[in-house]
Amino acid sequence: MSGCATPANDARPIILPSVRDVVLVASGKGGVGKSTITVNLAAALSERGLRVGVLDADVTGPSVALLLGSGEGIDLEEDGRAQPAVTHGMPSISVGNLLPPEAALTWKGPLIAQAVEQLFTEMAWPDLDVLLVDLPPGTGDVHLTILERVAVSGAVIVTTPQRLATVDAERGIAMFHELDIPVFGIVENMAGYACPCCGEVQALFPGGTATSLAARRHVAHLGAVPVDPAAQAAADAGTPLVLASPGSPAASALRTVAERVIEALERERAARRRAGAARPDASFDDFWKGLTDP
Ligand SMILES: Nc1ncnc2c1ncn2[C@@H]1O[C@H](COP(=O)(O)OP(=O)(O)OP(=O)(O)O)[C@@H](O)[C@H]1O
Ligand SMILES: [Mg+2]
Repeated sequence: MSGCATPANDARPIILPSVRDVVLVASGKGGVGKSTITVNLAAALSERGLRVGVLDADVTGPSVALLLGSGEGIDLEEDGRAQPAVTHGMPSISVGNLLPPEAALTWKGPLIAQAVEQLFTEMAWPDLDVLLVDLPPGTGDVHLTILERVAVSGAVIVTTPQRLATVDAERGIAMFHELDIPVFGIVENMAGYACPCCGEVQALFPGGTATSLAARRHVAHLGAVPVDPAAQAAADAGTPLVLASPGSPAASALRTVAERVIEALERERAARRRAGAARPDASFDDFWKGLTDP
């Protein structure tokens, strides 16, 4: 990848010819489990036979290299594009693959936006059904850069079952709704505690905040993922929990989320097909062209 010396301000759309759908994982609030959900959703979708890639758009707080165990260093293609790292059968890129953990990431807004663009454009992405994008918290520059430049199929919102988190999640949903980006639904993370001995899930917080947010904003509740102590060990080992501990309650909840995301993607693709097929201006153009052409 080229360096990040000058900000790029051209607003041409970023075309990813090898990627069918770009899906954002967002939250509003930090620390609610976006990156954890992203890599586990990727693994669960991949288990279902989809070709999935992961792009870590949190350039100043990258987690994906660690969570997928992809380490540092990536190879360059002859055309100067970089090869994503491949672990657990999934290609991914994160600033964590490019810079050592001790490097300070003190970049100003335009440089951050440029770095994010490069993760899309300067990578040799293979053919993918879904590219999952792990967003930073908030609704800031990175979000707007991606939403302005990349054709996004939908967004998954992660929240924890506390009002403090759902307020920010709602702002995230409002941003996507304002920009006409389909919100596939809400993942309620850290919803209860899965006992490591018996697997029983006990409530940690009063329930209902995420389901009422989903109902209020007319979006789906994609699933409730419990706190699972095994998630930490899996994260530290660079293996998504759905692969490291496939029988755990959290893994099973994450697979449910993946099923619902697949359904949402299918609905979105069908809507795109209908919109394409029923484009009246195209058929009108053909009609008039047929009359006027010799
Ligand atoms: N279901 C879970 N069970 C146990 N630990 C979890 C679970 N979900 C997330 N965690 C842990 O919570 C911490 C925060 O998770 P994560 O880094 O995925 O959040 P994030 O929303 O991406 O944070 P940031 O906003 O900083 O990017 C991590 O230590 C992660 O391992
Ligand atoms: Mg994160």
